[in-house]
Formats: sequence, structure tokens, C-alpha cells
Amino acid sequence: MTDLTKNPIEDIRSHRHTDGKPNVRRYHQARWDEPIIFELSAEGERGVLVPEVDEEIKRTTKDVYKNLPASMMRESLPALPELSQNKVLRHYLRMSQQNLGADFQVDIGQGTCTMKYNPKVNEHLARSHKMSELHPLQDQDTVQGILEITHKFEQILKDISGMSRFSFQPRGGSAAIYANAAVIRKYHESRGDTDRDEIITTIFSHPSDAACAKLAGFKVITLYPNDDGYPDIEALKAAVSDRTAGLLITNPEDTGIFNPDIDEFVRIVHKAGGLCAYDQANANGLLGITRARDAGFDLCHFNLHKTFSTPHACGGPAVGAQGASKELECFLPGPLIDHDGERYFLNEDMPHSIGKVSAFYGSASIVMRAYAWVMNLGAEGLREVAEIAVLNNNYLMHEVLKIKGISAPYAEGKRRIEQVRYSWEELYRDTGIHSEQLGIRMADYGLHYWTSHHPFVVPEPATLEPTEAYSVEDLDEYVRTLKAVSEEAYTNPAMVRSAPHNCPIHKIKPEVLDDPERWSVTWRAYCRKLANQNE
Ligand SMILES: Cc1ncc(COP(=O)(O)O)c(C=O)c1O
Repeated sequence: MTDLTKNPIEDIRSHRHTDGKPNVRRYHQARWDEPIIFELSAEGERGVLVPEVDEEIKRTTKDVYKNLPASMMRESLPALPELSQNKVLRHYLRMSQQNLGADFQVDIGQGTCTMKYNPKVNEHLARSHKMSELHPLQDQDTVQGILEITHKFEQILKDISGMSRFSFQPRGGSAAIYANAAVIRKYHESRGDTDRDEIITTIFSHPSDAACAKLAGFKVITLYPNDDGYPDIEALKAAVSDRTAGLLITNPEDTGIFNPDIDEFVRIVHKAGGLCAYDQANANGLLGITRARDAGFDLCHFNLHKTFSTPHACGGPAVGAQGASKELECFLPGPLIDHDGERYFLNEDMPHSIGKVSAFYGSASIVMRAYAWVMNLGAEGLREVAEIAVLNNNYLMHEVLKIKGISAPYAEGKRRIEQVRYSWEELYRDTGIHSEQLGIRMADYGLHYWTSHHPFVVPEPATLEPTEAYSVEDLDEYVRTLKAVSEEAYTNPAMVRSAPHNCPIHKIKPEVLDDPERWSVTWRAYCRKLANQNE
């Protein structure tokens, strides 16, 4: 009989909490030393056997390639890797374990990205054959379902924003911002007012507000914040003129600070003859609380891949839902989806439209996921999302500001909306450790954080956004880990400087990244370089 008094059974829960709060994880990332998928290829192996085309279909379609232009015809089959199904599954599962994906961790370190939980029921709906096997060129009478969903979701966004029409064509927030800048240009052109070549934005609005205005042919005037964290009315008054085409602005700004003078900003730009577009990618703390049109905005956009819970796959697919007031809806990218009381149809009759900004009607399956999310929550649920996102954010700020070396610049002691841009300036001054280095060390505990857009107006920045999707327990774990990393910076800076330690990839030397000769974006280019090198 084992004498348990001598070697007692370990209580595995003992190291999980201290004073009721979660401890930092003893995390270590998987390291599979996994080959590139092309290395795994084995001639003849197949994951799926595609059935032969039915003779009857062949007789009907005859030679399908004859209509393809010769220049588009491949001379050889694509050099795709040949793998069995379980090899493919194993490969991607292993790769996923070497990632800090949104479903793996308390993903609150990607401020401005609203990395909330993507409900799997929405994936289930969007991946059903009723959605995934639809073709955008199908006869409209055969796709009434998705047209109905898109039209109904448009009505919901009209309620949320006060705008009168929405286009779902822009395939991302930046694409919607560009489309709004193009609407502003088209509006002034349609009135023969071609001298209006300036767009005003703020430094804490998203960089794509300035970039898209520039791309749309405007000169950009960028306003800087006062101590409260948003520009002075006087600064705006000084910037507007009869050359002002419009204002492109986020509110709250990337700092999570809400500009209370926003309707005055809109009034001043309108008085100068400009239009106002509201970048509402950061709308997570405002749902059911404020509306763009109520502040006088003429245009707005939402990132469905942020606020509306569709997967934020860093690059797609995404939807920037673009909204316009009654006066400007005719300029939206067409076709829009209309209902004649009996059937839904694509309204191509839009002579003043800026034209299409993407193929077909945007990412329909993303609109379906967002619609499912909203229908699940209902109007009260949407408001609750905003309230919890703001509560979580201010609870997190309260706890984070207890950590040594960190601060929340601007609007000292004031509440924030859905995110905060913190500064590790004090820690950097004390230890010489940069914010990026702390962020890398966080990965050793299975967490991470992102610093900020450039330029770093807030020194040594870290932008955290807890959303409504995480519990107090999750937030406490994040805070405890951030505290541990800060303490390490003060007591054992070498450990932080030399991080990561628990990840499969250590550090890619900057000199490698800076030398395009030393890396390849495709397997074929890599093999070619290797062959040249070995010649
Ligand atoms: C405020 C704001 N506007 C616009 C964008 C751009 O959106 P997207 O990444 O979909 O182009 C972002 C994305 O981070 C954002 O935070």
C-alpha cells in the first residue's frame, strides 16, 4: 500500500490560482518540426477522389474548354502537393498548434481588431451546402434566400446607424473607407465643385482613413490630439475651408477615447460644405448606444469581421459594410439588393453609383454569419455586447494600471470605450526594454499583444481590447501575465530581451528579413534559389 503521507498525490489545482486569481500558465508551444506541405507530397497520393463527370453532362456541355481564351489555358497541370487526407489534416493541425490563434488564447492583445469569439454555429450555417454551393451568377430567383438575408441585414444596420442604405461590396474596412472617399469625390463632382481636394482626419483614426483619402486623390490634413486625447475644435476650424471635401474619422479613437465634440466636428465640416464619413470599425462599444446619423454623419462603415463576430482572418474574407444617408445612397457601389414586395432582386439601375468596388455582391457568407450573430442576440443583446465590452475594458484598465511601468496616456483618469492604448514608457526608461520585447515575452505564456499603428504617437505602446467575449477570469489571467512580464523586465531583463523561449521559432534575425535574397514567398522560388545557390 503506497504511503500517501510520505509521497502525497499532487493537487494539480494548487498552482492554478493565488488569492483566487489565475496564475501565469506554465505554457510551452508545440514544436512539430513539420515539413513544408510540398515536402510531404508523394506521387499518386490523393485526399479526395473527384468522381468522373457524367456522360450526360459531358454531352450537354460538350468541350467546356473551347470557350476559354488560349492564353488562359495551362500548358501543364498545377504542381500541387499530392497528399492523403489524414496527412493534410495532420499537417494543418500541427501548424495550428504552432500558432497563437484566436481560438487558443485570451486574444485581447490585438487592440483595434476586436478579436471576439467567432460563434461556431455561424460557421455551421455558412458552410452548409445551401450557402457554400451557391454561385453569384445563378438566376436571382434561385438565390432568394441569401438575397433576403442580405436585405434583412441591411435593415438591421440601418437601425443601428440611422443611415438609409448599405452596400456590402467592400471586402474590408479599408476598402469601405476608400469607397466612402470615392463617394465624397463623386458627390462634389456631381455638383461641379471640383476645387474640393482636401480630406481631414485625425492621427488616432486608423491609418487607412488617411491612406484611402490619398488614394482617392485627396490631400490629407491630419489633426493631432490635445491632452484630452482628441483634436481641439479650434484646430478643426483652422483646417476647414472651401477646399474641404470631407472628414474621415474614427470615434472612439484607437486610444478608446470618445470625442464628445463629434457632432460639433460634423457641424463645422458641413458648414464648410464638406461631407463626413464615420469609420466605425471600432463600433463594439457603441452598438445600440450611439448612431452615426444622429451625430450628423453622411456616410459610415462597419467591419463585419470585427464588431459583428465574423472570423477576423487577418486579410480575408472580410466585409466593410458601407452605409450612406438618403442624399448619398445613389452614389453607393451597385447593385444594391431591393425587394418589390414579392421577390428580392439586384438593383443595377444606379446611374450615379461610384461603380463596383469588388466582384459580385461582396462576401455573402460573411454577411450570413453577421446576420446570424445579430439574430441570436436581438436588439437588447447588441446593446449588452457594447455595455460588457466597455465594462471589460475599464475593468482591465483598472487592473493593468496597477502594474509597474505602464500608463494610459491622455484623458488621465477618464473612462475609455472599448480599448486602451497603454504606454510602457516608464518601464522602458527604467529597464531599456521595449514594448515589442515585452509582447514577445508574453508569447512564452501563450498570450500576446500588439503595439500600435505607426507612427507611435504613444511611446512604447500596447493596445488592448478585451471585447465582450472574455470572462473576468480570462482578463485576470492576462493581467497577471502582463504583471509577471513587467516584473521580469525589472528583475531579469535578459530573460525578456532573449525571448521567446517556449515557442517553436526563436527569433528571425532582422538582417535576414531585410535581405530579400534570403527569403522566398513561394516554394517554387525557394527551390529555384536553392538550386542557383548549389550550382
Ligand atoms: C478603426 C479602423 N478602421 C479601419 C480598419 C481597416 O479595416 P480592414 O483591416 O478590414 O481593412 C481597421 C482595422 O484594423 C480599424 O481598426
